[in-house]
Amino acid sequence: MIVDTPVATTSAAPAVDRTVLPVAVAGLGAYLPARTVDNEELTRRLDTSDTWIRTRTGIGRRHTAGPDEATSDLALAAARAALLDAGLDATELRALVVATCTPDHLLPATAPLVAAGLGTSIAAFDVNAACSGFVYGLRVAGALAATTDGPVLLIGAETLTRIVDPADRGTAILFGDGAAAVVLVAEEGAALGPFDLGSDGDDPSMLWAAATGTRYPPTPARLVAGEHFLTMRGSDVYRHAVLRMTASATAVLEAAGIAIEDVDLFIGHQANARILAGVAERLGLPQERSHVTIDRHGNTSAASIPLALADARDTGRLRDGDRVLVAAFGAGLTWGATLLTWRARP
Ligand code: ACO
Repeated sequence: MIVDTPVATTSAAPAVDRTVLPVAVAGLGAYLPARTVDNEELTRRLDTSDTWIRTRTGIGRRHTAGPDEATSDLALAAARAALLDAGLDATELRALVVATCTPDHLLPATAPLVAAGLGTSIAAFDVNAACSGFVYGLRVAGALAATTDGPVLLIGAETLTRIVDPADRGTAILFGDGAAAVVLVAEEGAALGPFDLGSDGDDPSMLWAAATGTRYPPTPARLVAGEHFLTMRGSDVYRHAVLRMTASATAVLEAAGIAIEDVDLFIGHQANARILAGVAERLGLPQERSHVTIDRHGNTSAASIPLALADARDTGRLRDGDRVLVAAFGAGLTWGATLLTWRARP
């Protein structure tokens, strides 16, 4: 059972980044793979139940990439949808950033593959801050958009189901695949920020895919032992997630000089419905102002916040001028929060 005991950390909290960028979202698009897996289907191959999954996580189903789909394919579909929404051609973009921790390959990055798919050779690179990747990406791509003379595309894209052990009931039930993208443009009067971003790398094994890189390379023996799969200490991650997301969101509100009552919509990283409810409760935010998609998407890591943003837009929950608070937490550990002002487009 998860209890709210203080979390140990040796790292001092970083100062909040008070930067507010004159940057708006000019286009938003999402892509979810066609196939969905509901809890019932998982019970046929795992020792679990629909009730356990729903009560512990809030997840009812998740989308999974087709056998020929990789992260860049999901990202490309989301990128096209966002460009269409913005009424832009890919040739008008100045840079492309993909936030992902499940790249097509360790090398090269996924972003150049997406840029090639769009038919452009602009600057393209990945940001890996795990589930916090989209919030980190907003800082990086937002700064690019504010200082170059054209739009910048930020995509959160993940194929988590490829790095999860399908036989591990502790993780296989949690994750889904998907991608969503925003076109960021410099615009007078727009506001993106302040930002609170942080990390604590003291204990990466809390949540990692151990045998995937240079520290602990994926030898044949380690692959057979399944050491390339994602593993985590779920209850430790849970406690950190609630505390870090709450602290980060609070720091952003303080830096912005606004109260939680001034926030129209909260979009937290969709890792667990109980984590989201815990954060909302600690922030003093009514649950109905927290947008939740985990029931339908599962945890899609860096894609979860833009997917939820697209869902909020598509279900009429976003109006012009709305202040949206976003907060995330992920492997690393990493965490982050920021504020964006929604601009409705004609
Ligand atoms: N079905 C049934 N029982 C299960 C399942 C399952 N799918 N999974 C675990 N259990 C069992 C465990 O074996 C354990 O049994 P035991 O008591 O006999 O040992 C019991 O349920 C309780 O297990 P806990 O791990 O303590 O359950 P908890 O309440 O912590 O919930 C969960 C587990 C859902 C994983 C929760 O800890 C959580 O959501 N943690 C956060 C995960 C997260 O946010 N990850 C984000 C990272 S994503 C990224 O950065 C890429």
